[in-house]
Amino acid sequence: MYPTIEKMLQHASVRNFKPEALPLETKNLLITAAQSGSSSNFVQAYTIIEIADESVRREIAEISGSAAYVNQTGAFYLFVADWYRQAEILRDHEQELAALRNMEALTVAVVDTTIAAQNMAIAAESMDLGVCYIGGIRNNLAKVAQILDLPELTVPLFGLSVGYPNFRNEVKPRLPQHNIFSVDGYDRQKLTDLSVYKATSANYYKQRTSHQKDTDWTQEMSQFLSEPRRKDVANFLKQQGFTLS
Ligand SMILES: Cc1cc2nc3c(=O)[nH]c(=O)nc-3n(C[C@H](O)[C@H](O)[C@H](O)COP(=O)(O)O)c2cc1C
Repeated sequence: MYPTIEKMLQHASVRNFKPEALPLETKNLLITAAQSGSSSNFVQAYTIIEIADESVRREIAEISGSAAYVNQTGAFYLFVADWYRQAEILRDHEQELAALRNMEALTVAVVDTTIAAQNMAIAAESMDLGVCYIGGIRNNLAKVAQILDLPELTVPLFGLSVGYPNFRNEVKPRLPQHNIFSVDGYDRQKLTDLSVYKATSANYYKQRTSHQKDTDWTQEMSQFLSEPRRKDVANFLKQQGFTLS
C-alpha cells in the first residue's frame, strides 16, 4: 500500500485534542502544503487565517457549536474564499470588478479554498495529527466577518482544527463505490441503490464506540435535510459583493 493512501483511508475526524500548540515549523509546513494544491487558472483565490488569539478563538468557537475542539486544539484555521486581492489589482488597473462577482467567480474561489484546506488536512494526517473541519462557523457568517474584519469579496467557508489527538474515532464506512462512481453517464439505478449501504451504515451506527444509535445513512439524510439550513448565506454573499448570477 502507498503510505499516503494508507493514511487517507485511516481518516476520521478528531473531536478531542490535547491542549498542546503546534510548533511553528509544523504550522509553516501545513500552510506550505495547503498552498501546493492546484488552483483554477492559478488565481489562488483564498486566504487562510490562523485564529491564534484566545479570546477571538473563544468567540468563533461559540458561533461554531463545536467549542470543545475549536478551543482545545493544536491550531485553528479559517479558510476564506477570497477575491479581494484581485479586486485591489483590478482597482490599480482601473478595471471593473464584475468578473469577481458572479457565480462562476464564487465557485472558483470556493473550489480553490477547499482544495487548499484538504491539502492541509492530508499533510496534517501524514504527520499523525488529527483534523476536524468546522462548517459551524457558517452559523453566523456576518459575526465571523465582523470579528475578523473581512473585506468585500471574501467568504469564510469553514474552519479546520488541527492538533494532537487525545482520542481517535473509528473510520466511518463510506458509500460503496457503485453508489458514487459511474462510467460514461449517470447510472441512476446503480448510483441510488442504497440497499447495501443501509445495512453497512446501520451496523456502523449501532456498533461504534460512542454515540451509538439505531439509524442508517438514509434516515440520517432524511432527518438532516428535512428543512433548508442557514438561510442567511445568500444574503451574506450579496453583502460581500457577489451577485449570485
Ligand atoms: C466542510 C465540512 C464542515 C464540517 N463541519 C463540522 C463541524 O462544524 N463540526 C464537526 O464536528 N464536524 C464537522 N465536519 C466533519 C464531518 O462531520 C465529518 O467529516 C463526517 O461526519 C465524516 O466523518 P469523518 O470525517 O470522521 O470520516 C465537517 C466536515 C466538512 C467537510
